Amino acid sequence: MKRLLRRTDVVPSPNIWYYTDTYELENRAQDADDVIWSRLAEQVCWEGADVVDVGCGDGFHLPRFAATARSVFGVEPHEPLVRRAKHRLAGYPTVAVRGGTAQRLPLADASADMVHARTAYFFGQGCEPGLREADRVLRPGGVLAIVDLDTRHRPYGDWMLADLPRYDPDVVDAFFARQGFSCLRVETRWRFPDRASMAAVLRIEFSARVAERAVAETLKLNTGTEDDELILPVGYRILLRRKPGGLVRSSRPGG
Ligand SMILES: C[S@@+](CC[C@H](N)C(=O)[O-])C[C@H]1O[C@@H](n2cnc3c(N)ncnc32)[C@H](O)[C@@H]1O
Repeated sequence: MKRLLRRTDVVPSPNIWYYTDTYELENRAQDADDVIWSRLAEQVCWEGADVVDVGCGDGFHLPRFAATARSVFGVEPHEPLVRRAKHRLAGYPTVAVRGGTAQRLPLADASADMVHARTAYFFGQGCEPGLREADRVLRPGGVLAIVDLDTRHRPYGDWMLADLPRYDPDVVDAFFARQGFSCLRVETRWRFPDRASMAAVLRIEFSARVAERAVAETLKLNTGTEDDELILPVGYRILLRRKPGGLVRSSRPGG
């Protein structure tokens, strides 16, 4: 796989690459009430469908799709994560995981009904090659679903912007609107079992200075609660684009 990948094709993802176990904690904490999954399922039906998860990391979301999809195909450029995903999904006969990138999916034309990417590669301008590639592998009527964090949602969005001063949510929103995506904004809750896991997760997501601010503000948000559990509200955007169906309905009666 290395031969086929150019370094610039891959978006550095130090959180999951170097702190894979902590990222697992993060994935378990995220979307504690299944808001993303519910909203996604209201918009796209993947029951009996062929689903591709682009930038699947170590395959955390693949079992969820596999529960009802006909087939699930995870694509991931970072080889250690490909191995981990294969190990996680070993008992799932309908799931395959392959090395590859969003710009060059190892899939045939018109072979998928849904292409999903969660906090991976599709971050705004520059992801056009991946958008074209998703269109290539989707069947007519298929859906590209991109799930990403919402920097407009506080406090998590403020922490992100503190580390990404050049990121402009207006520019990113305009980019996806121009590309034909609808955008649903959802508020979720991340639920951490204890303070240590909350701090560990925030420290892989932010620079040291911003992480300490994020830890302190999360503790403050949870003051007065008896439990060890800590809750952090986090906003997401669900971006959806359906590939045109190809069938042009005639307006003639009986046509
Ligand atoms: C923040 S992680 C999210 C992983 C997974 N989607 C999840 O939610 O657990 C981003 C992932 O995108 C992958 N990635 C980076 N560049 C990519 C590209 N060009 N095409 C596809 N995936 C890419 C990274 O290797 C990493 O696994």
